Amino acid sequence: MNSTRDVSRGQGQPAMNPLAAFHLRAAAVYAVIGMVAGITMSATHHFEYGPAHAHLNLLGFVAAALYGLLLKDRADLAATRLARLHAGLAHAGMVVMIAGLVILFSGNPGLGEPLAKIGSAAVVLGAVLFVALVFRATARRAA
Ligand code: HEM
Repeated sequence: MNSTRDVSRGQGQPAMNPLAAFHLRAAAVYAVIGMVAGITMSATHHFEYGPAHAHLNLLGFVAAALYGLLLKDRADLAATRLARLHAGLAHAGMVVMIAGLVILFSGNPGLGEPLAKIGSAAVVLGAVLFVALVFRATARRAA
């Protein structure tokens, strides 16, 4: 019989595919960072960072969790180059975009704006690839 420790470690469960696990783990980390940023922003009255906080929580935590949940049951899709490219663009773009927003709102638009633009362009490209992933996942015949 499995002990509580075995269950908490997922013993006896099929392993989650690595890309879905990456999205879900990243989402959980973004959630903590985003929430701590929200509390810090509130405590220090630096509400100018609101958009950075909001995008970290929504593009980071919420969107990445949805990516992970979609791919969790589709190891075949998660193993495609499309899915890996999507993950790269979505996560790298989000991190660069948030860094850009933080730098921008801290008073350095010269550096912050281009970073926010590059990051958001990567995020949008990733979103386009996500459309293709969703259409494949929801196709009547398996992709
Ligand atoms: C411990 C958790 C959180 C704390 C302490 C927190 C705190 C805050 C604060 C202080 C603001 C600024 C409000 C203002 O400007 O008057 C804010 C804005 C916002 N938060 Fe959070 N937040 C938390 C979690 C989240 C999560 C999980 C999400 C989304 C999934 C989220 C999305 C937003 C959005 C969309 C805004 C509006 C930003 C704007 O108007 O520019 N927050 N939050």
